[in-house]
Amino acid sequence: MEKLKVGIVGYGGLGHIHAGSLVGYDDVKVTCICDIDPEKFVQTESEINFKVDKAWLDINTVNTYEKFEEMLEKEEIDVLVSALPTDIHADYAVMALNKGINVFSEKPMSISVEGCQKMIDAKNKSGKELMIGQCVRFWHEYEYIKSCIENGRYGKLYSVIMQRTGCYPGGWFLEGERSGGALLDLHVHDMDWVNYTFGPKPDSMIASGLVGKTGEVDDCNVLMKYGDVLVSIRGSWIEHSPFCCYIKANFEKATAEYRGDWGEVRVTCSDGVTKETIKIDKPNAYITELRYFLDTVKGLHKNEICPPESTIESIRLALLEREIIKSK
Ligand SMILES: NC(=O)c1ccc[n+]([C@@H]2O[C@H](COP(=O)([O-])OP(=O)(O)OC[C@H]3O[C@@H](n4cnc5c(N)ncnc54)[C@H](O)[C@@H]3O)[C@@H](O)[C@H]2O)c1
Repeated sequence: MEKLKVGIVGYGGLGHIHAGSLVGYDDVKVTCICDIDPEKFVQTESEINFKVDKAWLDINTVNTYEKFEEMLEKEEIDVLVSALPTDIHADYAVMALNKGINVFSEKPMSISVEGCQKMIDAKNKSGKELMIGQCVRFWHEYEYIKSCIENGRYGKLYSVIMQRTGCYPGGWFLEGERSGGALLDLHVHDMDWVNYTFGPKPDSMIASGLVGKTGEVDDCNVLMKYGDVLVSIRGSWIEHSPFCCYIKANFEKATAEYRGDWGEVRVTCSDGVTKETIKIDKPNAYITELRYFLDTVKGLHKNEICPPESTIESIRLALLEREIIKSK
């Protein structure tokens, strides 16, 4: 069987994580990597907000480039994995799609709705696949809670409370026009899950927040109503405590909670005493989302979980929240 040839652009934190996932697949070969900073090629560890990982890919087995255009010209690849700073997600995805390459591009989809639309237009024109790495859609504990909302396991849903907080990252993330600040970079994960679970159009939205070091909204709280379900999300980079992601769903018959460092969903039943623990033993969400995308490219299924026509709506929702916050 012919292996899918994969190129990676942006070999920083997430580029290393995705390369590590890809070396685990038999039907894929990473053939080339591009980064403007050649030191990244020899970096042996990668760090993202909650995880330090070993560099699993042997860099000597791939061609390396410092210019993306040169890599596109010289290499024949089936799939591009893009883990670039957010302000250039759209332009690089469009360049690859225009060359007939399938693109997996990191979240957030783009810094603007116009950028997202350009990506969708290029995808439609090329007939290739495009998926954004909104990994929380593939996070098994969030999936479990979503399934309980849909199958009524714990009865009617009353409210969902979400949180994603930590301290400021460094580098380009501190430039609001490149990262979008905490609202677009971090909080968008939860906004995207809410869009995925409840839809892109809440009946109402109230939001408040603070503009921080990035010149963008770095601390935010949003309250939304979907019918009679209340959704509340907090996102922040202004904290000094360790990174924390959290979700709590209050149902008629139970409360289901998950926190990133627990590694399990904890359920407390309505008597306040009966507890249930749901441990999910599956490959992590980064591995799962990439596998899902590669199988989409191979024609094994349609991209129903994370199509770009849905992730653009998460950017629209996040930017609406930003507009409300900034108008006050
Ligand atoms: N899904 C998640 O959980 C998650 C977590 C962290 C970051 N991200 C997203 O992934 C993207 C990358 O974040 P990161 O933490 O890996 O950042 P990073 O700074 O560690 O990596 C970005 C890399 O891109 C390179 N680069 C910049 N401009 C380039 C260009 N023109 N051509 C080639 N290479 C270029 C940089 O040198 C750097 O190595 C961001 O959009 C971020 O929001 C997603």
